[in-house]
Amino acid sequence: MKKTITLKSSKCKSLKGILHVPSDKSISIRALLIGSICFGNTKIFNLLQSDDVMNTLKSLRKLGIKIKKHKNFFEVYGNGGYFCEPKSDLYMGNSGTGSRLICGLICNRGINAKITGDVSLSSRSMIRIIEPLSKMNAKFKHNNGFLPILIEDNYNSTIPINYDLKVGSAQIKSAILLAGLNVKGTIKIKENYPSRNHTEIMLKFLDVKIKKSKKIISLESPNFIKPKDLHIPGDFSSAAFVIVATLITKQSNVCIKDVGLNYFRTGLIDILKKMNAKIYIENKRSLNGELIGDIKIKSSKLNSVIVSQRISPRLIDEYPILFVAASYASGISKFYGLSELKLKESDRLKTMAEALKNAGVRILENEDSIEIHGKENNIGGNIVQTSFDHRIAMSMLVFGLGSEKSIKIDDMKMINTSFPNFKEILEKIGAKIEHIHK
Ligand code: S3P
Repeated sequence: MKKTITLKSSKCKSLKGILHVPSDKSISIRALLIGSICFGNTKIFNLLQSDDVMNTLKSLRKLGIKIKKHKNFFEVYGNGGYFCEPKSDLYMGNSGTGSRLICGLICNRGINAKITGDVSLSSRSMIRIIEPLSKMNAKFKHNNGFLPILIEDNYNSTIPINYDLKVGSAQIKSAILLAGLNVKGTIKIKENYPSRNHTEIMLKFLDVKIKKSKKIISLESPNFIKPKDLHIPGDFSSAAFVIVATLITKQSNVCIKDVGLNYFRTGLIDILKKMNAKIYIENKRSLNGELIGDIKIKSSKLNSVIVSQRISPRLIDEYPILFVAASYASGISKFYGLSELKLKESDRLKTMAEALKNAGVRILENEDSIEIHGKENNIGGNIVQTSFDHRIAMSMLVFGLGSEKSIKIDDMKMINTSFPNFKEILEKIGAKIEHIHK
């Protein structure tokens, strides 16, 4: 039988260096999708070349959008909102963002299309976007709320809605906004729990009539979007692994350059600072309307923390690595209001609780909360079930940089969905991560 290659991380000495993390996944996907409906060509600099982003790119090509790779940028030949009917399925791989946003983008563009995904994506409910988009009159057939979704030709008959968004989800918000770009009138979304606003920022940068007042986002349509060059910053969610790795290893000192610091993405910094982390932001500036900067981190003696649901949309993707930080903090950390965490690439509450317990950490887990007893028993030595989830894989590999025994992961390929050079970047600053045969 052919042996598969995976990864193992082991206790290491200090991490030191200056580095860049790969570009932002959320913004890369939006740049491709929005570029495709511009009137003219968009140059995208620093597009993330990961599986999730490439699945979006390939799907746009199937929809008749020419996308050319140049040495320093990708060029998207925007068709002003005209798409061809795809001859085969639009396969979105592991990407919740890609699949949900593309549904919004093409549901009222006069084509039939079938959206599919991998095992993990096919087990995630799509009702959260089908429901608001159907209210706009978009027509879908679906498998009880799951993929595959068939988008049915419904040209020009979608209508604006006033939507009361009860979940702090940028994917739902963005799907509605992208569909809203092709209706006559003004759509309004009441955002009860504000989430990452990359779509709003990019549309505003492209002079679309979008504004936010108090909790209400309004978007006036139709829109004829003229292209501008788009530059993608480093992904804060990828930086998060380097940040925690630096904090939990002794005498470490790392600087991550040019990282996106969108307020709705950086809740992790606020929580880690509460835990006594030495994190400093420098060189703040704006890039296409997004705040970016450099992050300096030094090893820190972390204390436990209590985290309520309120901040959840600002650190939704960082809970797994925050749980690792809590395992290395003295005292008992408690995290509440984690229901959204269960709906990600895996049920992250369950997969992380399992992985940490197997590594010796004392964990108490409830319906939507978790208690982590830090610094008692970070033994390691287990093989982590990553459940098709890149963030579980990377979080637990970071755990292994400080645990007594090594950590192995069952499967490394999911890391390619967001952070293809994870191993190389961490090794460069001194981490011990090796390929092994399974
Ligand atoms: C994302 C939004 C978040 C996040 C995901 C990326 C986006 O999902 O977890 O990784 O790019 O809009 P939800 O909006 O569903 O919480």
